Amino acid sequence: MIGKDIGKAAEWLRKGQLVAIPTETVYGLGANALDSEAVLSIFETKNRPTFDPLIVHADSLDSLGKYVLDLPWQARKLAEAFWPGPLTLVVPKGPQIPDLVTAGLPTVAVRVPNHPLTLALLSSLDFPIAAPSANPFGYISPTTANHVAAQLGDAIPYILDGGDCQVGIESTIVSFEGSIPTVLRLGGLSLESIEAVIGKVATTLHSSSNPQAPGMLKSHYAPRKPLYLASREEVLEQAALPGRGGLFFTDSPEVHDLSHSLVLSPGGDLREAAQHLFGYLRQLDTLPIETIWAEKLPDQDLGRAINDRLLRASVR
Ligand code: TXA
Ligand code: MG
Repeated sequence: MIGKDIGKAAEWLRKGQLVAIPTETVYGLGANALDSEAVLSIFETKNRPTFDPLIVHADSLDSLGKYVLDLPWQARKLAEAFWPGPLTLVVPKGPQIPDLVTAGLPTVAVRVPNHPLTLALLSSLDFPIAAPSANPFGYISPTTANHVAAQLGDAIPYILDGGDCQVGIESTIVSFEGSIPTVLRLGGLSLESIEAVIGKVATTLHSSSNPQAPGMLKSHYAPRKPLYLASREEVLEQAALPGRGGLFFTDSPEVHDLSHSLVLSPGGDLREAAQHLFGYLRQLDTLPIETIWAEKLPDQDLGRAINDRLLRASVR
């Protein structure tokens, strides 16, 4: 069932059931983070391997305090600057968080999402919510309640409808496990914004053998149709051929002539492009085409995170 009733969502969560929750990044598949059995059903419902740990969501830095052992000063500064917002911090885990949530790691990923309904829901609960993106493992993350309903509607009792996700790509993950802050996943908060607050950070995005890291399995966020990432010129050429669709960053007269092409942001705004990315990939997946050709975006700000998603979705 889809609805806007926080009371109902809270009731299901208290009973150990799963509820899809809106956030500013993507919809999450939520459960009581302190209840191992409820958390186990997240993995089962998504078909997600249990070695891939979950993010714990709460309504404030204060409420997260008792679930983390230590908050390095740079982590605190980032939380103060960007929460609620599209930022996840990986920090030493407190004993109350079940091992299943963190896949046995000594760290826990925590985040305060920026969505009024979910913040109100979290404030009404006396436990935090563990939630991965609300999609079957490996597929495109959902950015509307209908995306969730299309794939998980029959598997969960309630989808809290908070409208379209305003950021549209997952949170940026910064780990404080080592001696320097390290970005594990590019996302809705740009590297530039993070470095403006705490200075230079390291980046470790690929670890295909040991996916300690996030959606960092190499093939991820993928539509069912083969997707190719290429330059604008090449995408213009390919998308004009029969059976092919195009995904462009900006608009131009040549794009108008193509029958199965979508434009992420006519005016070239990276934020708008991020907002549309996953919804447009889903649309392309349903069009009468065999392959999808996507234009590589400028490698700056959110363009970096968008390119990362397209690359992981692509055939290489
Ligand atoms: O925007 C988001 O982050 C969304 C919304 C729902 O909050 N959530 C999300 O969750 O994208 P998920 O599970 O799809 O991606 C979270 C990633 C996982 O792939 C996992 O590998 C990584 O976070 N992660 C979680 N705990 C970790 C830890 N202790 N150390 C390293 N990586 C961790
Ligand atoms: Mg995910």
